[in-house]
Amino acid sequence: MAIDIDKIRADFPILSTLVNGKPLVYLDNAATTQKPRPVIEAITDYYSSYNSNIHRGTHHLSNLATEAHEAARKTIQRYINAEHAHEVIFTRGTTEAINLVAFSFGEAFVNPGDDVIVTTMDHHSNFVPWQMMCERRGANFRVVPFDENGDLRLDVYQNLLGEKTRIVAFNHVSNSLGTINPAKKVIQMAHDAGAAVLVDAAQSVQHIEHDVRALDADFYAFSGHKIYGPTGIGVLYGKEAWLDAIPPYQGGGEMIDQVSIERTTYNKPPFKFEAGTPNIVGPIGLAAAIDYLNGLDFADIMASEDSVLKYGRSRLLEIDGLTIYGNAQHRTSILAFNIDGVHHYDLGTLLDTHGVAVRTGHHCTQPIMTALQIDGTVRASLALYNTRDDIDALVAAIRKVLKMLGR
Ligand code: ALA
Repeated sequence: MAIDIDKIRADFPILSTLVNGKPLVYLDNAATTQKPRPVIEAITDYYSSYNSNIHRGTHHLSNLATEAHEAARKTIQRYINAEHAHEVIFTRGTTEAINLVAFSFGEAFVNPGDDVIVTTMDHHSNFVPWQMMCERRGANFRVVPFDENGDLRLDVYQNLLGEKTRIVAFNHVSNSLGTINPAKKVIQMAHDAGAAVLVDAAQSVQHIEHDVRALDADFYAFSGHKIYGPTGIGVLYGKEAWLDAIPPYQGGGEMIDQVSIERTTYNKPPFKFEAGTPNIVGPIGLAAAIDYLNGLDFADIMASEDSVLKYGRSRLLEIDGLTIYGNAQHRTSILAFNIDGVHHYDLGTLLDTHGVAVRTGHHCTQPIMTALQIDGTVRASLALYNTRDDIDALVAAIRKVLKMLGR
């Protein structure tokens, strides 16, 4: 493998810290990833040397900050292969990006009796905003289930699609099952039915292919903090024609063209959707994260993560009474499991005493838990800096916890 994980790990200061007196084994990357030094330095540099408001000032610092902010937009445009930089809108995160589309698309294109389609495996952030929109617009909320392996039921999806379908929203990768959904196919099927598509890329953009034009996504949303960037910054990509066609989400400064007592006209995208002083440093930190990734070979990252994932599955399955959730044909990054007779929360808390960080609970996907008839799982989730040693440490810690519990 060409990728040097030891060198990469040395770029992430937090990975060499201790937790509860033990070396940190960080396996909660689906919740948030750690940050490499260039991201931390880009943020420090911004606040140390050119902090200023953007798009407004005539002064030197404002120009520097504006240039860096807009250069970041271009870095992100290139990373997702958008045709135009103005198709990249900065939001607080994936959640706000999806709420924006649910609101603005809903206002313009969804009417009583129309259909909106999501899936049972979507995160609450790609489920509840559409449910709210359907209630507001009098539309039908349709949900595509998944099968016993965690693959989407494309046959049911095909039957749900029809001339009343206005938009389909689905996650490229499930944060709870690790399923990689066949995004190109899902999008093509929606387009064949005349519907628009939003891809929730929160758990995919850092792990697998992320080319919005190859996918032919109409909207594509992700969060900075899950791709080694800062929290509080997210991206909504939208095809130019859609961004022109839908109304603004929030009113305020920056999003306007002319304001008078009689009426207000709006700015062009992306500013039409960026009311108020934005998170100025967020895109700068996110661009530093993407530059960091661009310095590596993405195919190598995918191969390394896949190898650790497969190793993790096989090692975990050595443990008596352990069930893994998510056996889809194509998977990435997620190892979700329970052990007979041990509550997921107890296991997660006890793993923490060994320095192992995992997430427990329903992972903001209660419909998945309902379908699986469980109330939660332990979830270990991988990033580019995880190794087989992390898996060995996880398995060793689980064995110690089980011994302590007398099992
Ligand atoms: N959506 C994030 C997760 O799955 C927070 O953990």
